[in-house]
Amino acid sequence: MQKLKVLENIWYVAALGEELTTKPIARTICGFPMVLYRGESGKPAALEDRCPHRQAPLSMGNVLGDEIQCNYHGLMFNGSGACTHIPRQDRVPTNMGVSAFAAVERWGFIWIWWGDQSQADDSAIPHLPWTEEAHRRVKYFYFRVNANFQLMADNLLDVSHVDFLHKHSIGSKIDDTAKASEAPKVSFETEVEGNTVTTIRRVHDTLLAGVTAKWHGSEGPVTRVSTGRWEPPNCCIMKLQFQDPDGSINETINMEHIMTPETETTCHYFMDWTWDFGGPDGYPTHDDVDKEQRALIEVDDIPMVEAQQRNIDTFGTDARDVPVKQDKHVNEVHRVLRRMYEEQGITGRTEVTRQAAE
Ligand code: FES
Ligand SMILES: [Fe+2]
Repeated sequence: MQKLKVLENIWYVAALGEELTTKPIARTICGFPMVLYRGESGKPAALEDRCPHRQAPLSMGNVLGDEIQCNYHGLMFNGSGACTHIPRQDRVPTNMGVSAFAAVERWGFIWIWWGDQSQADDSAIPHLPWTEEAHRRVKYFYFRVNANFQLMADNLLDVSHVDFLHKHSIGSKIDDTAKASEAPKVSFETEVEGNTVTTIRRVHDTLLAGVTAKWHGSEGPVTRVSTGRWEPPNCCIMKLQFQDPDGSINETINMEHIMTPETETTCHYFMDWTWDFGGPDGYPTHDDVDKEQRALIEVDDIPMVEAQQRNIDTFGTDARDVPVKQDKHVNEVHRVLRRMYEEQGITGRTEVTRQAAE
């Protein structure tokens, strides 16, 4: 069993809060098989998915109170991984226990601390208060992706793909082959602050197409304002607004796209989408958002990113990225990641070193 060499002492999302029940789920996080469950008190738990007695997966077991009972011979473990019960035996051997990970439910996600458990620090969980604001509705998603976690995250850091890959849904109405001088003007501001990278991208005087026109209630013209804040390891905190010519903004969509490594070439993709328009029951309803986002992500983004991964696997070291001007946000994030990997002595993360020298 090979744990991945990824950033440590940091929170990764392991599940959506709504996924977690007293029925245990098996999920590999950063190459490590875990059992995730919600104790009867509501508390989340994340343990190694391997009973130390005879190696049965604990995910095949049952939750009793806040503990999990292995379904093979009935040993029980608490949320700290300690064995609390061995049937027909009073003494618990000192080496009878499993690895446990600090698990916190916040903003609708289950965050687990990967690294030195004594350093788990709740205050380092990204701050996503709009997921709980009374005037907003929120919809959560989980996708499993056959591609490296960074490749999938890069898709969110690269808003410029929206007008092409999603031209029939959330893109702006533009001429695909317009010369730079004829296309709607795009302005960019990117700021790196410690380990976070924020970009504001404005597409000026553009017409909206597909679902964006439905959200806004007209094709515009508008200034389309996309704000993206990236926090390590891979939390893409995004905001989309449409600004009318008089400067007013009537719709704000906040969304998070959060990637967690499963293996080197597969990942978990967690997402929330929150909106403040359409009234409490009007369009877009939760079902509308479900359909619209699945059409975007399952039909457009994930197949593209999985195809990139296959190409990278096939072409190997020949697969080098040649960046363009619009890649500024991705490039800054990769720069921060290269520094953070270096600080933690992690080498060989080709997804942030694949860039070709000019
Ligand atoms: S393998 Fe789990 S109790 Fe025996
Ligand atoms: Fe996309």
